[in-house]
Amino acid sequence: MPRPANAGNSGSQDAPAGRIATNDRSAGRDTLSVTDNRTGRTYELPIENGTVPAAALRDIKTAPDDFGLMSYDPAFTNTAHCKSRITMIDGDKGILNYRGYPIEQLAEHSTYLEVAYLIVHGELPTRGQYEEWVFSITHHTFLHENMKRLIEAFRYDAHPMGILVSTVGALSTFYSEAKSIFDPEARRQQMVRLIAKMPTLAAFAYRASVGMPFVYPDNDLSYTGNFLNMLFRMAESKYRPNPVLERALDVLFILHADHEQNCSTLAMRAVGSSHPDPYSSVAAAVAALYGPLHGGANEMVLRMLKEIGSKDRVPGYIQRVKQGQVRLMGFGHRVYKNYDPRARIIKQIADQVFEVTGRNPLLDIALELERIALQDDYFVSRKLYPNVDFYSGLIYQSMKFPVETFPVLFAIPRTAGWLAQWEEMLLDPEQKIARPRQVYTGSPRRDYRSMDDRM
Ligand code: ACO
Repeated sequence: MPRPANAGNSGSQDAPAGRIATNDRSAGRDTLSVTDNRTGRTYELPIENGTVPAAALRDIKTAPDDFGLMSYDPAFTNTAHCKSRITMIDGDKGILNYRGYPIEQLAEHSTYLEVAYLIVHGELPTRGQYEEWVFSITHHTFLHENMKRLIEAFRYDAHPMGILVSTVGALSTFYSEAKSIFDPEARRQQMVRLIAKMPTLAAFAYRASVGMPFVYPDNDLSYTGNFLNMLFRMAESKYRPNPVLERALDVLFILHADHEQNCSTLAMRAVGSSHPDPYSSVAAAVAALYGPLHGGANEMVLRMLKEIGSKDRVPGYIQRVKQGQVRLMGFGHRVYKNYDPRARIIKQIADQVFEVTGRNPLLDIALELERIALQDDYFVSRKLYPNVDFYSGLIYQSMKFPVETFPVLFAIPRTAGWLAQWEEMLLDPEQKIARPRQVYTGSPRRDYRSMDDRM
């Protein structure tokens, strides 16, 4: 549509872009005054919670039939797409709270299942509620036997995340009531099933990929103890997890339980917004987590450390990072512009784990990378710090988890977060089916030509 150039512009043409002026008459109001220099009209947009509603921009038009302004924000770097009461991150200060509780306190005092309850229900459980919750989760860990056959059908070297995406989606076909997403009871039942069955799916996927027989859940063990049992039990009649490793895994699960609006949570909310059953939405979230820029990063960290090979080759690798040839995996974060608080806790867990397993030889390379990066201007000026994935892979490797299971170890605990975010989205009256806009930059209208007429 033709737009009048600066029609009715009231002098703001002279103002250099980005100049900040103070208007005493409007100071103190929770609004934003915007002047459209195409028309000279000024609009007052409401400010709520440090945001302006993007829909309010639609009133800014050059003519009555103009569509109105939109905001342009590829990858949502500055767009809040929901209100949420679950997780709070202050990326500049390096703070992470679940439902108001600091991650450091939860990691020290809580268990993963207690944190999962907190995230899903909004409050810490009483003793009775906790016992009932643990009982429910423990008694929903078994899979339908057909799931085993489905898992066996994959190629011998299938990646466990590929199997997990498919099998968690397939679970929906076993629970037809899962479609009743606005029935609170049905919703709660699927949430329990998903949190309970994810470790079983993940462990079966791993056992299938190494040609080992499946190990059924053991109800005497804790959530993480049972997971270790299903992964690693061999011929022993009763698997007894090492308590230090069991607790370390539990804390790692706490650290991964939710992380507000990241790529996989967005997938969960976006797919869930068209109202499929939660298994289908979790499958989408797992798929989003699979990528190396998200849940696949700790696998990539380990591969990177192996590729570097020794401490003396670290400066050369840093050089390649600075030249833009490679990324320093496990560094940087969209939100944290400070040390990721989870990475701090993980570093402490690493010491406890290495006391049991022996020191991981790749640790020295990781520490050297961190030391050099934290004093190099490239990383300092871009505020690139170690994220949760930088050390978690080393711990997992020392605990004998195969590299391919690393993203799976992320997906299991994150299921609680995905489900809480999904339910919050469903019950939020402001939410609808997710449907962003685009700026079309393709060809204008043109007529079809037969193949003979094409150059
Ligand atoms: N190594 C080297 N340079 C980096 C890195 C890195 N790991 N991360 C960011 N940068 C640089 C970019 O090149 C860019 O530099 P420029 O301004 O000169 O172009 C600048 O820092 C900003 O980077 P963006 O890509 O714009 O940052 P974004 O917020 O989009 O990316 C991300 C965040 C994807 C996590 C990125 O830091 C990255 O790729 N890190 C490595 C992968 C990783 O560890 N992912 C795990 C994230 S945590 C999680 O999902 C649990």
